[in-house]
Order: sequence, then structure tokens, then C-alpha cells
Amino acid sequence: MKRRACEEVGIESVHRDVDPAAGADALRATVRELNDDPAVDGILVQLPVPEGVDRSVAVRTVDPEKDVDGFHPENVGRLVAGDPRFRPCTPHGIQRLLAAADVDTEGADITVVGRSQIVGRPLANLLLARAEDGNATVTVCHSRTRDLAEKTRRADVLVVAAGRPEFVDREMVGEGAVVIDVGVNRVDADTERGYELVGDVDFEAVEGHAGVLTPVPGGVGPMTVAMLLYNATLAASRRSGVDVELS
Ligand code: GUN
Repeated sequence: MKRRACEEVGIESVHRDVDPAAGADALRATVRELNDDPAVDGILVQLPVPEGVDRSVAVRTVDPEKDVDGFHPENVGRLVAGDPRFRPCTPHGIQRLLAAADVDTEGADITVVGRSQIVGRPLANLLLARAEDGNATVTVCHSRTRDLAEKTRRADVLVVAAGRPEFVDREMVGEGAVVIDVGVNRVDADTERGYELVGDVDFEAVEGHAGVLTPVPGGVGPMTVAMLLYNATLAASRRSGVDVELS
């Protein structure tokens, strides 16, 4: 999906497979090669990394200026400090969805379910980063949260990124709430492929009760890809000194 999207907009992409058996040095060497290549503007280490590969080794080796995911510790630090170099793709895509749907987040209660390094944590930080993005009160919940339903029900905006198929039911959602479903779960199904993709939210149960509900597939997923293209363009613009107008 990412490679096709690059092709569609005219961004050249290269794909490198690293044999997990080759160890951390091989992974570091591949990333460094891309760091040193002046023709490469952006690098993304596809997560999750295979078993036996250290995710943090890969992420820390990426040149922070080419880190279009925004996962390098330096860039995480800048995000937490309220000055992101790159806005992480999925959280940025969620912000764009909220803006496009004219959701007023000023003073809103936003509850995020899931504390992953890809979605939950960077989203919470992004929502807190700039006052002009709305002065929301952000609550981060997770698998060990006590009385989760009580916390999700009072949210004006509920973002679910827990990786648990269809576990958010009607009882967990306040009437009229904006619900952003980030989950993409494969469940066995009587289809040609033998499975179907479902979100973390029980769509049928929550549709009509929520004010806004994003579908899976087709909701947040394409926004993640779009924001990756955005960050790649931003990286290229900064590196080349050629100004590109990005909204
Ligand atoms: N796997 C799932 N989402 C993402 C993402 O945003 N970036 C990377 N690198 N891997 C992912």
C-alpha cells in the first residue's frame, strides 16, 4: 500500500529486506547505508520487526532528519517537548480526520485506548503539543485500566488503538461521540481469503449511537499512508532547500 501510494504521487521508493537471522549488525548496516545515501530523503522501518530483531536498534539508527515515522528518540523528545520535527503518521492522520470532519476539540475530553509507541503515546503528545490544535483534556487508557467503560463513555472523542477485535460495544460509547477506530484485526471468516479485517470497535453496534464513526478498512489506514507521503515530502523539502507548500 505504501509503495503503491509513493508511485501514484511520483515519490521513488526502495524496499530493503533484512534477514532477521543476520542479526542487529546487518540491520544497522542497511539503515546506515540509507542514512548515507544523499538520494534518500526518508526512511521507515516497517513495524513490527520480526522476532529476534531489536526494534529500538533499528529505530535509533535512522538519521533523525530522515525519520519520517518520528520514532527516533530525538524526535520523540521533540514531540513531547511540543516541537515535533515530524508528526507521526497515524496520529497526524487522526488529527487531519478530526479537522476535516469539523470536530471541535477545544476543551474536549479525548480518550485514547492503547498506549503503543506507534499510536497511543504519540497521539496523546500531539494532542497536547499545540494550543492551536485544541485544548483537549487527554486521557490514555490501556489493557490494565480500571473501569475502562466508565472512562470511554465520557469521551467526546474516543480513539481506539488497542488491537482487540470489536471489543468496543455500544455501552462503552457516549451518545453522539466521535469514534476513531484505529484497529486493524484479521479474524477468520468465510471469505475467499479465509479472513476479514475488522476494527477494535463493533461497527454495527456503535453506528447510529456514535455521532461519527470511522470504518475499518478505509478510515484511519489511508490517512496513515497519506501522512507518510506528507512527511517524506517535508523531509525532501528540508534537505533540498526547495520550498514545498504543505498545508
Ligand atoms: N506498522 C504499523 N503502523 C506503522 C507505522 O506508522 N510506521 C511503521 N514504521 N510501522 C508501522
